[in-house]
Amino acid sequence: MAVGIYRVYFHPLAKIPGPKLAALTFWYEFYYEIYPHKFQYLWKIKQLHEQYDTGPIIRINPLQVHIHDPDYFDKIYASGANHKRDRCSWFHHAGGKTLSGAMLEAMDHDLHRMRRNSVAHFFSKRSVHALEPLVVQCVQGLMDRFRGELKNSGIVNLNYAYAAMTMDIISEYCFGESMKSLEREAYGKEWLDILHDAVQMRPLGRQFPTLVNLLFDLPPDIVAKVSPAVEKMNAWNASLFERIERIMRYEDGGDEKKLQQRTIFHEIRDDVGGKLPEEEKATLRLAAEGSTFLGAGTETTSRTLAVATYYLVKEREVGERLREELRGVLKSKDDRVSLPQLEALPYLTAVVNEGLRVAHGVSSRQPRIATQEDLQYAQWTIPRGTPVAESAYLLHTDPAIFPDPFAFRPERWLEDHKLTRYLFAFGRGSRSCLGMNLATSELYVGLAMIWRWFEMELYETVEERDVLTTYDVFLGMTDLKSEGIKVRITGEIED
Ligand code: HEM
Repeated sequence: MAVGIYRVYFHPLAKIPGPKLAALTFWYEFYYEIYPHKFQYLWKIKQLHEQYDTGPIIRINPLQVHIHDPDYFDKIYASGANHKRDRCSWFHHAGGKTLSGAMLEAMDHDLHRMRRNSVAHFFSKRSVHALEPLVVQCVQGLMDRFRGELKNSGIVNLNYAYAAMTMDIISEYCFGESMKSLEREAYGKEWLDILHDAVQMRPLGRQFPTLVNLLFDLPPDIVAKVSPAVEKMNAWNASLFERIERIMRYEDGGDEKKLQQRTIFHEIRDDVGGKLPEEEKATLRLAAEGSTFLGAGTETTSRTLAVATYYLVKEREVGERLREELRGVLKSKDDRVSLPQLEALPYLTAVVNEGLRVAHGVSSRQPRIATQEDLQYAQWTIPRGTPVAESAYLLHTDPAIFPDPFAFRPERWLEDHKLTRYLFAFGRGSRSCLGMNLATSELYVGLAMIWRWFEMELYETVEERDVLTTYDVFLGMTDLKSEGIKVRITGEIED
């Protein structure tokens, strides 16, 4: 009772507009996020912004403030030594000991910075350019599969197909061992389904952290019964252990040639800056980092590729305009075009941007806590220590920024070159997407090669069910009953 009165009337956020019930209790969010509604709080937040005409700032639960203003985004997500930004542990609680070692789970600004710096070089633009042959090789692997499909029904589930490609790239690059999903009959289905199941734990983890953390840390036989997704993730983690330990013991030579390939674990072991304490090199932590890279690097990129391809097929003029541009640089199947050359193509760039905007790889609000300064938004002072967030989904679907927001219209990026300042798909600031360069490379090379050389038509795909984001679990998700975006490959285009 006393806590409730404090939260509503005396809390430092008491004056921020918003429903009193949301200020009083987390059950308000539970109602929209868990039961009876499911993963819907994002849309309730949108409605609250419309309802409270006091401005684009509302208090959405006892702890957090939500802002809807594209020009304020950089203030919240700022980077730099003078703008420390912690994560909000209430929001992020999920994954127990298994995942807490990852940079994504580092709440404290300095700890996060240390973890991120130790591998940042691995994901720099330069490193990713050097990685281009691997990306091309995996796209070619996907093209070979599509050629094979032409001998059968030609029907392909794009979410699974692209997930196989992105998964093989990230696993080969980060761990020195491809998951070989492109060789599997159902492409990346097994892992993508697991990732989808596991990420749905996040909203639950906010409300019941102990329960969800316990689930991750239970003995394997019990976990197997309660959550096959978590069991599979834990088992994969365990399989990484041996590999990590050998690398950390410098036993990475010998006849296992593959182990000599540089991985993120070599990067952390060698710690060129010499800043990592020993506990940061512990196997469990490194496996956590590995799991997050696999998760973060697979679903978001493959979903963006699948959604963009869907619209290229559906919007014939858009598809034809892109193919025309691609014909100019990819004249024959043997032509190799470098990433910078592809990035210089205006229409492909517009398609990539529009794909990132409508695919909603990461849809959720991402709270940040300014620890050293109060934030000022219009007449409101947000005291330091408050988790504040914006939601990329709400910004990317705001008609004031993107007119006719649910239309796939790459032209909008050509009409206004400054529009990219409102592309928030990779977040901003010190905790923005580490894999942005890799993802961009996969999007450019993947879309260019697949779209240049294959004709396809939609197959049993309904936009509302299979394409649009209607559930928010951190990642944007379609109707939970969706089987994904399917196409029928109808032909391979000759040189
Ligand atoms: C289209 C594809 C992708 C999208 C839209 C995307 C989006 C994002 C966003 C919005 C964040 C920031 C979350 C926050 O604000 O807290 C993030 C973080 C992250 N992403 Fe991505 N991502 C993509 C691909 C990738 C890839 C390919 C990797 C490969 C490793 C990756 C690895 C990460 C990691 C490690 C973080 C955590 C960074 C940190 O905490 O400092 N992402 N991603």
